Amino acid sequence: MIAGAVRRAGLVDVLGAAGNVNVQGEEQQKLDVYANEVVKSALTFTGRVCVMGSEEDDDFIPVPDGYPVGKYVVLFDPLDGSSNIDANAPVGTIFSVYSRVSDGGRGDQRDVLQPGRHQVAAGYVMYGSSVMMVYTTGHGVHGFTLDPTIGEFVLSHQRITIPPTGMYYSVNESRFGRWDRGVQLAVRGLHGDFPDQIKGKNSRYIGSLVADFHRNLVNGGIFLYPGDVKAPAGKLRLLYECAPMAFIAEQAGGAATDGVTRILDLQPEALHQRTPLVIGSRDDVEYVRRIILEQRAREGAA
Ligand code: AHG
Ligand code: MN
Ligand code: MN
Repeated sequence: MIAGAVRRAGLVDVLGAAGNVNVQGEEQQKLDVYANEVVKSALTFTGRVCVMGSEEDDDFIPVPDGYPVGKYVVLFDPLDGSSNIDANAPVGTIFSVYSRVSDGGRGDQRDVLQPGRHQVAAGYVMYGSSVMMVYTTGHGVHGFTLDPTIGEFVLSHQRITIPPTGMYYSVNESRFGRWDRGVQLAVRGLHGDFPDQIKGKNSRYIGSLVADFHRNLVNGGIFLYPGDVKAPAGKLRLLYECAPMAFIAEQAGGAATDGVTRILDLQPEALHQRTPLVIGSRDDVEYVRRIILEQRAREGAA
């Protein structure tokens, strides 16, 4: 349904802003609102879910009265990469699934604020040149491609593994001056400034986490959204962007940290909490972590 709206965005009234600001303080796009309603209503009827959490809703969403309650918790970013919609660049939907921890009835805060290592499933749908769903349930990462001629998702990428190092790095370089020294040194390493440490990489930045992540998953590479002096926790949200992508990355043989700490070990304190993110090829993520720690040691010693 969302792919259908994205494919015809210029024809049906889903381009542009919806005219309101969401809990993130961001201008909601019409497609954000449409995608959010589609996912919420689709999940409400399943009888599989006890509580949901969405980037587009201020608070978590217990399954409404009168609907069957299930044992799963679903957190999602209904439309990732909203700034790219009007530009016809790739966008996506990200989801994360946990088993409930509360006993009986509709779900609550305890069910929603679980560390990423407790996820039972995670995935994304990417509305790109083809529509792909990539997911894991803890037994490897698999990709399905939508065949529009039959309206079915067909298994196209069995057991996707991410190469230990890649030829691309993705980061919003306009923030360079605001990062701490360790991050600046690590990104300069990715530029190729320190060839004795790491081979320089080519830059690719689409501005949709799903699209930037997917390229690194299939080709190898690293994506960074660091914290900076203005936003120490960065921009990306832990529960419905970083944790699901981290689960997928690790299941594909890659890694995901907040620069230093494993994303899946972070204990969420709030539904929309943000975290810095370094994710992708294992050796590249470890390189960034080492440079950040070495710089902190130098600063600690100084
Ligand atoms: P969303 O559209 O769900 O708010 O997510 C946008 C995010 C993410 O998709 C992307 O990696 C990041 O914003 C890009 O941010 P900058 O424009 O600051 O680089
Ligand atoms: Mn997003
Ligand atoms: Mn979004």
